[in-house]
Amino acid sequence: MSHLFIAHGSRDVDALLTVHEALRQASIPTWYTPPGLDDKAEFETVDEAIDNAFGMIVLVSASSVRSGAVQAQLQRAAERGLTLFPIRSDNARLSRQFKSLLADQLTDALSDEGALDRLVSKVRNRYQRRCPVIAVMNLKGGIGKTTIASQVFGAWQASLGGRTLLIDLDPQYNLTQTFFDMDRADASAAKDKSVISLFERSRLHAPEIASPADNWSSISTEPFSPLNRETLTHDLLGVDGPGGRLDLISGQFEISKYAFAPSPQSLALVGSNFRRMIDHYRSAYDLIVFDTNPNATFLTRCALEAADRVLAPMHADNYSLRGVRLLNQVMGEQVSDDKRPDLSVLFNAVGRSEQSDFEADARNGVFDQQAGFNLSGKLLTSALPKSGHLVVRGPDEDEQPWQQLVIHKGRGGGLRPIRETLKAISMELKSLVEQETDQSSA
Ligand SMILES: Nc1ncnc2c1ncn2[C@@H]1O[C@H](COP(=O)(O)OP(=O)(O)OP(=O)(O)O)[C@@H](O)[C@H]1O
Ligand SMILES: [Mg+2]
Repeated sequence: MSHLFIAHGSRDVDALLTVHEALRQASIPTWYTPPGLDDKAEFETVDEAIDNAFGMIVLVSASSVRSGAVQAQLQRAAERGLTLFPIRSDNARLSRQFKSLLADQLTDALSDEGALDRLVSKVRNRYQRRCPVIAVMNLKGGIGKTTIASQVFGAWQASLGGRTLLIDLDPQYNLTQTFFDMDRADASAAKDKSVISLFERSRLHAPEIASPADNWSSISTEPFSPLNRETLTHDLLGVDGPGGRLDLISGQFEISKYAFAPSPQSLALVGSNFRRMIDHYRSAYDLIVFDTNPNATFLTRCALEAADRVLAPMHADNYSLRGVRLLNQVMGEQVSDDKRPDLSVLFNAVGRSEQSDFEADARNGVFDQQAGFNLSGKLLTSALPKSGHLVVRGPDEDEQPWQQLVIHKGRGGGLRPIRETLKAISMELKSLVEQETDQSSA
């Protein structure tokens, strides 16, 4: 689990100790400067400690408002999408930066009655909130899984904030190619900087070993620890990008090798490695999304076991209906009750009127029996329309990865309604995920 960063001015020692002690009693790990007060060995730099934190308490005082170090820490936390918890330790005037980033949440001073308890409880809620993992999946090809993994969740990150990790679990690695040209995607895979390092020990863990991608006839059973975020992931928003954090663990063809695995024991080990890694990255992100392959394989099971929710895109036609029926069947048969994710279904690329009739029938429960489950109850209210803006192009040479996201595109005919729909889908999904977290923690 990651920690909470406390940003403070040099004269805030008393306030720092008070807050630190209250958090220690609540068993919430903290990190603050100067190093050496606590166990700081895990991170070498302040930036690294911020990048790996789940949130930042900002002690707002004359000393912190004036401190260049605190200003930089605050800026970095805001850019990385950390949750900010400001509290006043004196009645200093706010600078413009403090005002714009903190004023909305700056309701308490440490000396106020009950303020410390309120702060600890807000932090605890955030600390205990499990990062949801959503698998975009349907056992049918070409119906928008990759488009939704990139465009819907890119829009989620941009409009609802938080730190998002996309993982390309499809051996076709189209999600990776949405953001990178083939040369860059393949160069990354050639270094094992890709999804394979979630399954097996690779050259990112030990440079001297042979790559697991070069060895199709066996699976490594060597144990390995999770890699630093910076080592394994690609930062899609870049330094000069739109802000926040949207990372990608890129895909590669060679994870197909697990379909030919010689022994069920080694495959089980690879599966548990994957789940362990996802659990680890849950602490560094607020949302994890898998793009998946269209056929039922070992990778499908890995995705289903690690995910809390499956988002299944479907077209308004019978082939898609069959795809979600099979998906629901696989979820029932292949995943044990305690690991089975919830299912949501999203209509994608609905256009002509006969298709919208199909959609209306689906919403009215006409296909529930054919689907083999309560399809009408699992459909998201919003649907993604068919639109040229959503057609995958892949990046031009001079484009940044985030420029592939519709949510970040400038003006253009018809862009606004698409962006609004992408946001509406994100909000609907987020509220479903939050209901689920509330229920499981109740
Ligand atoms: N809403 C949409 N409007 C227009 N085109 C779309 C839309 N959704 C997807 N497409 C296009 O349909 C094609 C298939 O989409 P996509 O690659 O996302 O499907 P997929 O389910 O990931 O496919 P696969 O099963 O091969 O992984 C792509 O060319 C994509 O650009
Ligand atoms: Mg795809």
